[in-house]
Amino acid sequence: MNPHRRRLLIGSASAAAAASIGIPTLGATGRPGAEADIHIELHAEPDQVAVRPGKLTRVWRYRGKLLRGDAGALDVSTGAYLGPIIRVRRGQRIRIDLINGLDESTIIHWHGLHVPEDMDGHPRFAIAPGARYVYEFVVVNRAGTYWFHPHPHGRTGKQVYAGLAGLFLVSDAEEAALGLPSGAQDLPLVIQDRNFDADNQFVYLNGDIGASARHRPGMMDGQMMGGRMGGGMMGGRMMGGGMSSMMAGMMGVLGDQILVNGSTQSSRAVERRAHRLRLLNASNTRTLKLAWSDRTPLTVIGNDGGLLASPVRRDYVMLAPAERVDLWVDFGRWAPGAELTLRSLAFKGGMDMGGMMMGGNSALPDGAEFAVHRFKIGSGATKSATLPQRLPAIAPPAPRLAVNFERPKVFELTMGMMVWGINGASFEMLGASELETVKLGTQEIWEFRNDGRGAMMGMVMPHSMHVHGLQFQVIGRSVSRTFSDEYDTVKAGLVDEGWKDTVLVMPGERVRILLRFADFPGLFLYHCHMLEHEDTGLMRNYRALA
Ligand code: C2O
Ligand code: CU
Repeated sequence: MNPHRRRLLIGSASAAAAASIGIPTLGATGRPGAEADIHIELHAEPDQVAVRPGKLTRVWRYRGKLLRGDAGALDVSTGAYLGPIIRVRRGQRIRIDLINGLDESTIIHWHGLHVPEDMDGHPRFAIAPGARYVYEFVVVNRAGTYWFHPHPHGRTGKQVYAGLAGLFLVSDAEEAALGLPSGAQDLPLVIQDRNFDADNQFVYLNGDIGASARHRPGMMDGQMMGGRMGGGMMGGRMMGGGMSSMMAGMMGVLGDQILVNGSTQSSRAVERRAHRLRLLNASNTRTLKLAWSDRTPLTVIGNDGGLLASPVRRDYVMLAPAERVDLWVDFGRWAPGAELTLRSLAFKGGMDMGGMMMGGNSALPDGAEFAVHRFKIGSGATKSATLPQRLPAIAPPAPRLAVNFERPKVFELTMGMMVWGINGASFEMLGASELETVKLGTQEIWEFRNDGRGAMMGMVMPHSMHVHGLQFQVIGRSVSRTFSDEYDTVKAGLVDEGWKDTVLVMPGERVRILLRFADFPGLFLYHCHMLEHEDTGLMRNYRALA
C-alpha cells in the first residue's frame, strides 16, 4: 500500500490525532529486509535471584543480549528478575529474538505497541521449549512507558508471576524537547505483589515456581498448571490445593508482599530535585490506589500511551493491572532528610473473596491499604526545575467520526459455569465474531459493561480491559446506583486523559472507548489484564479487515 493511500484510509479529520499516536504515514512494514537499528536476543529461562533477604528465589526471567545497536538500548541494571529495560527511539527498526529456555511454550507480547499481527505475541504464535521467535518491527508509538510479557494461552498468569516482564521505553524528539527529568531522575517503578513460602519461593496458586524441577508429592508441576484449561484442570487443581486454590485460579491471585522492581526492599534515596516516576502495575490481579503519604496531590504527566497534553493533579491515582502512569515530582519541595511514602490507599469494590479464600490466597485483600515505596529525600541543596505546563498536543477524541457513533458495540464481561467470557463467549484461539470484526481506516466506539451478568454468588469484580495493537481514548463512564458507594472510593483517581491501552472497569460500571484501527490487518486480542481472568476465558479476538 502506498503512503498516500494509507493516509487517506486514516482519514483527514483524524490525521493530526493519528500522527500524535504515531500511526505511521510511511508504513511500519516498509523497508523490508533493512538492517535493524537494534538487535536483541531475549532468553526466557529459569534462574535464582535475591528478591528478599534470605534464600534466593527461583524465578523465570528474560536475559537480554545486545547484538546490535547502542549500549543504552539494553539496560540490565534493574534488580532481581525483572527486565531488561529496552530503550528505543521512535522510528527505530527493532529486531528481537525470543529464545525459549523454559520447559513449556511461551511467546512475548509488546504491550501497547502498534505492530503487525505476527509481531504482537498472540498465543497462537507460542513457541515450544528450545525454539526461537524473531520479532522485527519499526517502533511507531509515541514516547512512553510500554512493557513486554509472556502471552501463552492459559499460562500468562503463571509466567508473569514467575518473573517474566520488562519495560519497553520509547523516546522521541517531542519528548526530548521538554527537558523532562532524565538519567537517575527518570525512575521506572514496576509494582507487583507476590506470596512467598517459608523457603523464600514464589507461591502461585498451589505450586511454587520451581516445582516442575523438584517434584513434591501433591504439587502440580508446570505442565499440569499449563494444562488447566483442559481436562487436567479439575483433577490437578483439586488434588493440589483444593477449592480455594481453584477459586483463586479464576478470581485472581493476590500476594501479601509488595515488590518494586523485583525486590521487597521498600525504600530508596533520592536527591532534592525533580524526578519522573514511571509506574507500571505489573501485578497479576491487584489494583492500586496510589497516593503520597502526606496527601500532597500527585502530578500526572503521562499514562499508557505516553505524555498527556498537560499535567493533571489527583489526590490519588488508580492503577489497574497493566496500566502505567508517569508522575512528575520535585523532591526539593520537602525538607532535607524528609521521608515520603508512596502508598496504596483503601478502596471498596475490589476482589473480595472473604472466607472463600481461606488458606488459598492473600493476607492482604484487594483494596486494603499498604505502603508501596519510601523515598528518603537527601539533604543537599535543591536543584530547581520547572514542570512544563504544556506537553505534546493530543487531538481531543472525535466520537462522531466513529462508524458506529449511533450504536456503540457492547461488550459485557460475563461469568458462566466457572468460566469468564465476553458477551458469554470465552476465548477461542482463532475465533472472532461479527461484532468483533472491524475495518482498517475506521474508528469505533466500544462499551465495556461490568454489570455482573452471571456473577458467582453476586460477586462483581473490577476488570482491567486491554486492547492489543493500538491506543484508544476513554470517552465516557457511567456506574449503576447499586455500586455508587464503591465507585466513590475510586472515581477521583481515574486518569482518562491521553492515550490508553488498558482501562479499569469497576463493578457496576460501563466504560466507553474510542478506537482507531489502522495499518495492520489480522487477528488481535482484547481481554481483561487480571491475568487469571485472561487465562480462564475473559479474552477474545477482534479481526481487523483491510
Ligand atoms: Cu499486556 Cu494481552 O496483554
Ligand atoms: Cu478481569
